[in-house]
Amino acid sequence: MAPPRARRLWMADFRTALAADAGAISEFLEARIVCDLHPPLAEAMRYAVVGGKALRGFYVMEGARLHGTDGALPVAAAIECVHAYSLVHDDLPAMDDDDMRRGRPTVHKAWDDATAILAGDALQSLAFELIGDAPASGAVRAALMASLARHAGVAGMVGGQAADIAAETAAVPFTLDQIMAMQAGKTGALLTWSCMAGAMMAEAETAPLKTYGDAVGLAFQIADDVLDVEGDAAAVGKAVGKDADAGKATFVSLMGLDGAKRRAKDLVDEACDALSSYGEAADTLRAAARFVIARSH
Ligand code: IPE
Ligand code: IPE
Ligand code: MG
Ligand code: MG
Ligand code: MG
Repeated sequence: MAPPRARRLWMADFRTALAADAGAISEFLEARIVCDLHPPLAEAMRYAVVGGKALRGFYVMEGARLHGTDGALPVAAAIECVHAYSLVHDDLPAMDDDDMRRGRPTVHKAWDDATAILAGDALQSLAFELIGDAPASGAVRAALMASLARHAGVAGMVGGQAADIAAETAAVPFTLDQIMAMQAGKTGALLTWSCMAGAMMAEAETAPLKTYGDAVGLAFQIADDVLDVEGDAAAVGKAVGKDADAGKATFVSLMGLDGAKRRAKDLVDEACDALSSYGEAADTLRAAARFVIARSH
């Protein structure tokens, strides 16, 4: 167990890296997103991709740094595009019906439903275009694209989102296994992919980062569900107190706040244990795992 002072330094390094990566990804995407056919669509897309924590993009960058690989910025931007698309659609009236995201009106509130649907669609396409143009071998780009499609699609994020919506009206409450499977899909899949992408770019072993990502992904959604109960809307940047009213199936709905927090802490320990083969080089990833459950937004 590392002494507390070292842990504080890892956390400072992590926060510095997260902010730097978020800035670089935003700048890259601001320049890249244009729409000559209908400029307001590009404006909505740029609005949707900026202003978040960019944790998934950070994971791509950090995984590449861990393996000494360059050229990860377009891949980091790609996962932030898929994530932003998932949020724009998640907020639509037909899904979670949210008015605020990242401290600002959601895309369908700032524009309209059609623009939000289309901005999400175009962000998803852009993600694959960015990976297709990334400075990596053809084999690496193909592997990144195929795996991102799997993690984003019916067996991953979209499938999990469908289960999340179905849980709202399920006759019988979801079991723990069902909740874990649903959350591993809707939130875990994109996080796990972002943790593995740097190793994939280096054509290195992905198993430790997959284990790390799976655990962090579940812990991340538990923290989000805890913030929905205990968080402050101004700090979180989105409405809170909505999950129970909507009948969402969450770790909190099943285990209560204390049980959910205990589970999240165990998952973070599990995530950190998975990094042992990297030694000190993975200290920033250890700090990132702790941040996932300590965050206020
Ligand atoms: C929110 O993700 C959606 C969930 C998967 C819980 P983030 O909390 O990473 O959102 P941003 O990108 O920082 O706004
Ligand atoms: C969203 O989960 C997960 C995805 C967007 C895929 P939530 O619906 O709990 O996320 P928030 O709370 O709206 O950010
Ligand atoms: Mg949702
Ligand atoms: Mg939501
Ligand atoms: Mg939530």
